[in-house]
Amino acid sequence: MERQTATIRKVTPGCGVEVLGVDLANPSNSDMETIRAAYRDYGVIFFRDQTLTPEEHIAFARRWGEIDINKFFPANGEYPEIAEVRKEKEQKVNIGGGWHTDHSYDAAPAMGSILVARELPETGGDTLFADMYKAYEGLSDGLKKTLEGLKAVHSNAHVFGTAGAYKSSDQASGFKGESMVGEAVHPVVITHPLSGRKALYVNAAFTTHFEGWTWAESKSLLEYLYAHAASPEFTCRFEWREGSVAFWDNRATWHFAVNDYHGEKRLMHRITIGGVPLQ
Ligand code: SIN
Repeated sequence: MERQTATIRKVTPGCGVEVLGVDLANPSNSDMETIRAAYRDYGVIFFRDQTLTPEEHIAFARRWGEIDINKFFPANGEYPEIAEVRKEKEQKVNIGGGWHTDHSYDAAPAMGSILVARELPETGGDTLFADMYKAYEGLSDGLKKTLEGLKAVHSNAHVFGTAGAYKSSDQASGFKGESMVGEAVHPVVITHPLSGRKALYVNAAFTTHFEGWTWAESKSLLEYLYAHAASPEFTCRFEWREGSVAFWDNRATWHFAVNDYHGEKRLMHRITIGGVPLQ
């Protein structure tokens, strides 16, 4: 049977595209070119009707770089490369339930994450995404100039540390690595290593303050940026179905796992791919 040609369909004008006509378990060279271009140009790409086994998920991730095993997340017992984003029906707290980007607290933040739906609630459990190129481009020239020379500190102690958010929640037993918390400093506006475009690089979960500023001084400007970047015109909402896969660029987007399905289980497999220091 003849292979389909991969095509791209916009999800919303502001954020994300769907790549149609590819089998991620066996993509052709031309599919990979289309996927690479969509990833570079749109920051978050979605696929439907996939049948990826865990081994195929790992193999697809390895085509993009080295797998960056999360120090804190519950790992899948059989496949250490796969982090489990799990909420059981008895649990109230979900993982990733606020705007963030993965691993911004690392000196070389993760390039991307590939999330595969394994068990879904009947409805709900969608993921929101926001485009940080658009967020940057939507700022005034004056604010762009102010942000240009700034750096920000990103930390994970308040999220994954001993007294962090997960350790004091009903997700506590799954999380590990409390002693491995740390921080990193990155420019507030980065030049994206793949696209060369400028993107806003702060996020509400991990950015604590601007370098050289106090937390109190940083708070109102950071909050302004968070509210601006989450504007509806820069965001999209992905409704998961069996066979859905999302692949996002952590330097160009934020994401937010909606926690609206209490009493039902949701299990996702996430693989995170290593990145480079940001300029
Ligand atoms: C995450 O924050 O990586 C998980 C997103 C999701 O479960 O939708």
